[in-house]
Formats: sequence, C-alpha cells, structure tokens
Amino acid sequence: MDSFVIRGGTPLAGTVAAASAKNAVLPLIAACLLTDEPCVIRNVPLLADVATMLRLLRSMGVRVVQSGRTVTITARGRLDTTAPYDVVRKMRASYYVLGPLLARFGDCRVSLPGGCAIGTRPVDLHLKGIEALGGSVRLEHGYIHARGPRLKGGTMMLEGHKGPSVGATANTMMAAVLARGRTVIDGAACEPEVADLAKFLNAMGAKVSGAGTPAVTIDGVRELHGCRHAPIPDRIEAGTFAAAACATRGRVEVTNCEPGHLGAVIDRLRAAGAAVETGDRCLVVTMKGRPRPVDIGTAPYPGFPTDLQAQFTSLLCLGRGTSTLTENIFESRFLHTLELNRMGASIDVNGNMAIVHGVERLSSAQVMASDLRASAALVIAGLAARGRTEVLRIYHLDRGYERLERKLAPLGARIERASA
Ligand code: UD1
Repeated sequence: MDSFVIRGGTPLAGTVAAASAKNAVLPLIAACLLTDEPCVIRNVPLLADVATMLRLLRSMGVRVVQSGRTVTITARGRLDTTAPYDVVRKMRASYYVLGPLLARFGDCRVSLPGGCAIGTRPVDLHLKGIEALGGSVRLEHGYIHARGPRLKGGTMMLEGHKGPSVGATANTMMAAVLARGRTVIDGAACEPEVADLAKFLNAMGAKVSGAGTPAVTIDGVRELHGCRHAPIPDRIEAGTFAAAACATRGRVEVTNCEPGHLGAVIDRLRAAGAAVETGDRCLVVTMKGRPRPVDIGTAPYPGFPTDLQAQFTSLLCLGRGTSTLTENIFESRFLHTLELNRMGASIDVNGNMAIVHGVERLSSAQVMASDLRASAALVIAGLAARGRTEVLRIYHLDRGYERLERKLAPLGARIERASA
C-alpha cells in the first residue's frame, strides 16, 4: 500500500490545474449504457474510481477503448445487466448503472452497496424514483432486482430528510430519458454534476430541462444516440488546492476551475481572511497569516460541500480562535479529526459538530487515511506542519485525486509517494 512522505512547512506557490470532476465523469460513464452507439468522453481523470467504473462496464460486455484521457464506450450487443457486489462494495457510485440498465433493458440486478466509512448511505430515494416511473423493485440475496419493461413518466418528490440526493436524481433522470411521456422530479439535487449529466443526455438526444434547479423535467424519447462530451472541472479538487494554499500561507492559482461552482467555498475562504480573486475559469487564493476562525455548515449545493469539510477542518486547526464545522449530510464524517489531534490539533467532536480550537502549529506525525476526503485533509495538515509526516493508506486518496503529489510538487510541496 502506498503512502505519502511529506516534509511540510513550505508555503505553496504557483499554478495548478484542476482535473475534470470525478463526480461528473462517473454518471456519464453509466449513461453510455443508454445507447448502442459509441459515446466519447474527453479529459477523463485517471482515477481509481474511474477505472472501477470502466471495469464494471467491461464486465457487462461493454466495449471500452481508452486512449490517454479520451474514453470511447460502446454498449452494443448482449450485455450482462448485473452489477456484482464485488464492484459495488468498492465504489458506491457503481449504483449509477441502475437507472440506465433499467431504461434500456427493462431488467437489472445491482448489489446493495453496504455500509461506508462516512456513515450509512441508504438507497431509498433511488428506489422511489424507479417506482415512480412504474418500475418494480425487489430485494433478493443482497441485490436490488429492478424490473420495468415499460417505464412511463411520473411526477415525484425526491427530497429526503437529509435533503436532495445527487445519486438518486441522476439515476432517476437516466431511467426517465427513455420512458414514455413526461417525468417531473421535484426536490432534485442542484449540483453542477447533475446539470452536466443533463447536458450529456441531451447531447445523446434526450429532452431534459431544469437540471441544476430543484425541478427537472424529462420528456421521454424512443432512443438515444452517441455523443461527445468533456466534463466540468472538479470543484472539490479546486477547493482542496485552495485550502492547502491557505493552510501553508501561500498563493496558488487554480486553473481549469469554475469559480461559479465554488460560491460557498470562496465565501468561507474570505471569511477566514484569504484574498480570493476569480477570473475566467481560474481562482487565485492568497493567505498571509493564520486563518480567522469561521463557522461552516455543510449543505446541498449551492451550500458548502460535505466533500470539502475535512480539508477545511485541517485549515481551521491553525485558526486564531475557535471554529465550528457542522456536518449536515453524512454522519460519522469526522474520522480525520482523530488523526489531526495526533498532529497537535485541538478538535472536540460533539454529535455532528467539530469544535476546532485553533493552535499555532501542527506537528508532523505518521497518520492513517480513513476515506477519500479525510486523506486530502491529512495531506494538507502534513504540508502545513514542520517536519516529516507520513500519510498511510493513500489508496483512498487515489480514488479521487489523480497523482496528487505530481500536482503539489511544482507548487513547492516536498511530497513523495512511497510504495510498500
Ligand atoms: C454524491 C457524491 C459524494 C458527495 C455527496 C453529497 C458522487 C459519486 N458522490 O454522493 O461525493 O459527498 O453526493 O454531496 O457524486 N440519501 C438518502 N436516501 C437515498 C440517497 C441518499 O437518504 O436514497 C441521503 C444520504 O444518506 C445523504 C444525503 O441523502 O445524507 C445526500 O446523499 P447523496 O446526494 O445521495 O450522495 P451520493 O449521491 O451518494
């Protein structure tokens, strides 16, 4: 298992490009199942999660041709419409095949994902969407067996008690594009990745409107065709670079970035005392001293993303006072705080709130990554702490960041990958 060895204490300085968004690419790959024509996705990040998704499609009999960052996917011929436990348990997003498989083949089996390190992650809203389209769902042997040979449009409220669901909105959209008649999803997730999926589906010939707002309308069409698409930039990766720049008191320009997708993040960076300039597809973040304490509550888009909560915890560990981070989307998403405390941070967790008493400096240590974003938080802490920090188990990080060390090193970070 690889680890990172970081010699921290150097302010990051320079320019770094964000990749295309992992969370946009994964549903796009699944959407390719909706047609037997080739779909071409460009600028695909070379991530472990993307590889897992492509492996899943190949295991179904889909032709996947990868040439650098361009992936051509052709779902032609007889396909095996089962997503096995072995893949789904590794990556919950493999659940995205449910909607497209049902829409095109009328029958599929997708393993239940099981627990996850950031808390229980139910699928009730995904199933609600399928049922609202006239599909039936049975749970058998740990698998969801969905049937719907003749899906038809329906109206539904897809918001759950924790707010809208990105995954359920995307899955239902993909199930509805080939259904007869009109579907209206109320309480839809507004994340930019949902809007990007709609753009992709429309390029395939679908009729989706309103994506990116809480009300999405889909008029079913008889069939879809191939298309070409380049996904939106990764707002979480951009936010991670911004937090790293501030924690090390540096100045970083993030290119291939859509500042319009980062409103709540930029707001909290400025509240913490960072200077943030935005330009056309770029963001420049400068931090001079220790951050001012701020309060952050995660929320569905356009609120502060839960996927940046851990990275901002690392930043606020160094604050000139007490900050709070309230996690409103996923329970148990504070595992990183235990490791940060081992690095000299002073964080108390009370229910879904982390109370962060700022300290002047973090001390380097050997730490263990527990999930994808927690890993990024530990890297940020390691970059800020003087001395040698080792972050173990970075396979979590490789799921969502492409060779992070190669992006950070040109910014002056002293970070190396060590293979055990
Ligand atoms: C996606 C992102 C993930 C991000 C999350 C929230 C991908 C591949 N992953 O995950 O990185 O952290 O959005 O922005 O895009 N819920 C239910 N019932 C359901 C589904 C979800 O109650 O059927 C709840 C969840 O437990 C959670 C909330 O709804 O509390 C939001 O989850 P959701 O938006 O579905 O997250 P994902 O799509 O899994």
